[in-house]
Amino acid sequence: MPYTAEPWRIKVVEPIRIPTREERERAILTAGYNVSLLRSDEVYIDLYTDSGTNAMSDRQWAGMMIGDEAYAGSSSFYRLEAAVQRYYGYPHVIPVHQGRGAENILSRCLVRPGSHIPGNMYFTTTRAHQELNGGSFHDVIVSRAHDPSSEHPFKGDVDLDALERLIHKVGADTIPYVSVAATVNMAGGQPISMANLTALRELTAQHRIPVILDAARAVENAWFIQQHEPDWGEHSVAEILWQMCALTDGACMSAKKDSYANIGGWLAVRDPGLAEQARNLVVVYEGLHTYGGMAGRDMEAVARGIEESVQEDNIRARIQQVAYLGERLIQAGVPVVRPIGGHAVCLDAAAIMPAVPRDQFPAQTLAAALYLDSGTRGAERGVVSAGRDPVTGENRHPRLELVRLAIPRRVYTRSHLDVVADSVIRTAQHCQAVTTGLSFTHEPATLRFFQARFAPV
Ligand code: F0G
Repeated sequence: MPYTAEPWRIKVVEPIRIPTREERERAILTAGYNVSLLRSDEVYIDLYTDSGTNAMSDRQWAGMMIGDEAYAGSSSFYRLEAAVQRYYGYPHVIPVHQGRGAENILSRCLVRPGSHIPGNMYFTTTRAHQELNGGSFHDVIVSRAHDPSSEHPFKGDVDLDALERLIHKVGADTIPYVSVAATVNMAGGQPISMANLTALRELTAQHRIPVILDAARAVENAWFIQQHEPDWGEHSVAEILWQMCALTDGACMSAKKDSYANIGGWLAVRDPGLAEQARNLVVVYEGLHTYGGMAGRDMEAVARGIEESVQEDNIRARIQQVAYLGERLIQAGVPVVRPIGGHAVCLDAAAIMPAVPRDQFPAQTLAAALYLDSGTRGAERGVVSAGRDPVTGENRHPRLELVRLAIPRRVYTRSHLDVVADSVIRTAQHCQAVTTGLSFTHEPATLRFFQARFAPV
């Protein structure tokens, strides 16, 4: 598809500067070789995440001005609720401060000690809440999702045979729900197909197991279905999004992704009993059920962001920009996860630094090297992010050892991405010869990747 220009122009700019090589050396040392601990003014191009880092539109900013800050019954909540109902189709909407707020409430409602939660690859916060409530996560994604070179267009699909085997092994009554991400973040932003979601729905219905969607990037997933799945090319992204949600019983949403908001989220469900249970918890953990930890202006920004997110030209420009960076790296022979996903280009650190042992964290090492080269910040998505197995205490070894370069929406230009591509190409060449990585000097107990510190081995 030809590269078309962005469907927006720039009205406000935010100055950024390139830290000098000496500043970068000092900064990464102070940060314990963990780019998560860098201060943002030490970063030039920040691809740490696409979450909450998006540029809002003038209409979203205008909405901020008329946000209704009433403690109870904010009219901004009702606009948010109407937008969720219209585009995602769930009747009951519970606002939360961000995605993990929804995960907390949902897990507290449904997960019990001994519960089993199957899903198409784990996400860090999602699994953490399941485990904190005594459940265990089971990865039932198709095996090609673990192969960075597989070009299959729907690497987010669920392996239905594996799921069925799990149901027979542990019993349907121990599975409170199946957790389905669209797209799959940890696999590199890979989508699930409508055909697979439909088949999943049929299988789970036989066993009366609900399906909960992680909708953070479901609009991006809908775009891939429109582009690559037979029968869906003539449907709008909005229609496809609706249909995806129609195959599920509820969703956890981080509005910091698809919805272009800096903060916010929601939990939405079809079952009125579950909605009542969730509303009872939201007042304890987040805020009243008509604001859930968001200011009225945030809810207004999310409501407007939802409407913008499903516009075809917006979503096309978003995915094409990510693809542009990916294609430049592929042409230069840099190993990346293929096909290029919706929100990020993921560098295959294990292939780029083949001599560095997994327990010396190749991806963590590569992320630090990339920062040193150009001030570009990516994020580790490998052994460090995967954490330790709660039973054995050993490092988990996911098959993917990635540095994720997540692209914030509507923020950087193509020239920025050229700077990133040049830097990645240089760094990857340099890293081929590296044989040692990093070891922990400080390791937090939960979600260790955010605050861990390291030293060179
Ligand atoms: N689910 C997915 C698939 C996510 O990517 C995230 C966040 C969450 C849930 C949690 O949402 O941050 O609003 O609490 N992902 C960010 C990232 C942090 O960088 O990928 P949250």
